[in-house]
Amino acid sequence: MSNFRVGLKKVVDDSYDIEIGYELEEKLVNDIRDGLVGSLHKFAIVTDDIVKELHAEKICKLLQKAGYTAQLFVFPNGEKSKVRKVKENIEDAMLEAGFRRDCCVIAVGGGVVTDLAGFTAGTYGRGVPFINYATTHLAAADASIGGKTAVDTPLATNLIGIFNQPKKVYIDIAAWKTLPKRQLISGMAETIKHACLADVAFFEYLEEHIKDVFAFKQEVLEHIAEENCKIKYHVVMQDEKEANLREILNLGHTVGRAIETVSEYQLLHGEAVGIGLAAEVRLGNSYGYISETDRDRVIALLQKAGLPTEIPDYINREELVKKLYTDKKVRDGKLRFVFQKGIGAVMEFENQNYARLVPEEDARKVIMSM
Ligand SMILES: NC(=O)c1ccc[n+]([C@@H]2O[C@H](COP(=O)([O-])OP(=O)(O)OC[C@H]3O[C@@H](n4cnc5c(N)ncnc54)[C@H](O)[C@@H]3O)[C@@H](O)[C@H]2O)c1
Repeated sequence: MSNFRVGLKKVVDDSYDIEIGYELEEKLVNDIRDGLVGSLHKFAIVTDDIVKELHAEKICKLLQKAGYTAQLFVFPNGEKSKVRKVKENIEDAMLEAGFRRDCCVIAVGGGVVTDLAGFTAGTYGRGVPFINYATTHLAAADASIGGKTAVDTPLATNLIGIFNQPKKVYIDIAAWKTLPKRQLISGMAETIKHACLADVAFFEYLEEHIKDVFAFKQEVLEHIAEENCKIKYHVVMQDEKEANLREILNLGHTVGRAIETVSEYQLLHGEAVGIGLAAEVRLGNSYGYISETDRDRVIALLQKAGLPTEIPDYINREELVKKLYTDKKVRDGKLRFVFQKGIGAVMEFENQNYARLVPEEDARKVIMSM
């Protein structure tokens, strides 16, 4: 018999720019004209039914005016749309409309849109390029950067997906003006998470300026957007596929993702992460990783931002403990948590591990106390 070796060494440059600014729709179209995605001239603009009127239609019209073929693919807003079925609907609609491999997807919206559209682009025709136009604070702080794309399933959030880097990310700070206050607050959770895990000066800045976020003080919003990007892309550049370091971005997400699912998405992603961070500092304090003072500072900052730090009464605590096991960090059926080291750093455990095993009784104790 024969034995063939298929030599396929990969050298890939997936670098991309993140542009932060105000009303960047025209800039996006100019960049496309200047070759952002080569000579592609067909654009599938994926968005939800709220962002459609706020930004996506404008981008669509600008592209058409510039001579491109552009079409909107719209789904109902909210986390419940981040599922396989909606991905399938978008794909079928794109096929029906004649979109083939020579197209580019533009995700216009929050994290639900960028996660769903990025995943769709990654599998459509075995992969077409995509661009993120982030319109929520949460997508700006986290979801639009880093190339993680996914859908939720009834069992857990974000477990079915791919790493797929966008060609460029646009962060439109002006878009935050129309966000409902609850959504703006939700976005603060990933911002506070970044400060907790990487930058004590940024944490102090947030302690001082959090009210200015809600007063839309321009320089504060810009500073926050920039710091979030820097913290996230520095981690992603070192460990794109989450072999080790990238796990630190899961701070607060073990309890966070589980409670988001158990609440059947009554809790927004950021609200769930707020509760998750509060659980993490409580557990971390019991292990000696963070002082009582710093634990209380983290909880106080979350509260100052308007985020929940206790588990709502309607959540079944036992169900929540069980749900922790659907977390992607679980190894050999054992729970693993990321912990901050004081404020502005993370705990590193043996063999470059950034998550440690947590006995179920310890996790249960914290959950029951909240
Ligand atoms: N891929 C990642 O690395 C990553 C990281 C963090 C979070 N996420 C995901 O991000 C999602 C949460 O993101 P999100 O909070 O942006 O969700 P979202 O996309 O559902 O947006 C929240 C709501 O705001 C509305 N909206 C969006 N832009 C608006 C605007 N400018 N004005 C008024 N309303 C607007 C949307 O229609 C929606 O109703 C979750 O699915 C989470 O899992 C992904």
